[in-house]
Amino acid sequence: MVPRWRNSCSGKTPPRIDSKSRLAINTPTQSKQKKKTVLKEALAKTLATFGYRISRIPQAAALVLPDDFEDETKQTIRRVAPYTMTSPERLYGLVQAVDHVVRHDVAGDFVECGVWRGGSIMAAAQTLISHGKTDRTLWLYDTFEGMPEPTEHDRSRSGDAKEKFDVVKISEDASDWCRSTLDEVKGNFFSLDYPKDKVRFIKGKVEDTLPADMPDNIALLRLDTDWYESTRHELEHLYPRLAPGGILIIDDYGHWEGCRKAVDEYFAGLDRAPLLTRLDYTGRMGVKPY
Ligand SMILES: C[S@@+](CC[C@H](N)C(=O)[O-])C[C@H]1O[C@@H](n2cnc3c(N)ncnc32)[C@H](O)[C@@H]1O
Repeated sequence: MVPRWRNSCSGKTPPRIDSKSRLAINTPTQSKQKKKTVLKEALAKTLATFGYRISRIPQAAALVLPDDFEDETKQTIRRVAPYTMTSPERLYGLVQAVDHVVRHDVAGDFVECGVWRGGSIMAAAQTLISHGKTDRTLWLYDTFEGMPEPTEHDRSRSGDAKEKFDVVKISEDASDWCRSTLDEVKGNFFSLDYPKDKVRFIKGKVEDTLPADMPDNIALLRLDTDWYESTRHELEHLYPRLAPGGILIIDDYGHWEGCRKAVDEYFAGLDRAPLLTRLDYTGRMGVKPY
């Protein structure tokens, strides 16, 4: 996850106002600007007490992408960058995965659990559009109300998820952590030209919506709900429906201990587990064995 809020207080020290500036009479534009700065500083100060710093979301056009990425893939990554928190490397892996299942005719729908603003599934849809293959159904699972409560398993190197959750909590099942509403996601997604009747938005915790509402056959399964319990639940219900030759992507294996535990436990119980290769420090991708 590339966090919008970095866990650091190392922002620039605001410039000191000397007595001369304080006495100066401001124009309306200067006053407006000053009000904005004061508000921003107050917000930054409040967040700093919780260990967070405000940083600007990088402009898509300014994204520096590795030279070996194909031009079309670079375009796709730039197109979806405002709507995703995953890295260019993980997006590149996703585009490769879509190319693979299309080229090898792996039958089945695409599933993403944990869509946030929709950027990753938009990258998958854009790649299908580029192939002229828009007949697969895309299943988008999310609370559309932010991250639900984590358990004691959900820790990263930078701390316990529960500590952060308690600050941003709205209820046990909702928070301001990775929150994006259903309307917002639909607006983002349908800025692409993918057929509306081929997209299913499943709202709620996956622990409640699965297995009641899920596809029979899956060609690409992307898991990105971060926590132990949801990841375990997704694997138990969805992995058996992933076609041999289909692709599994785990977004948070390296970052969240609970996610890694869920994946390791689940595959320890199977005779044939896929080799999950590293996309970056946290993302993993594998092909389901035949
Ligand atoms: C890290 S974000 C997903 C990032 C996204 N895939 C992207 O491309 O940027 C995690 C998402 O998972 C959702 N989520 C977390 N736990 C969930 C659960 N148990 N059931 C459904 N959605 C969940 C959150 O609402 C959030 O939108």
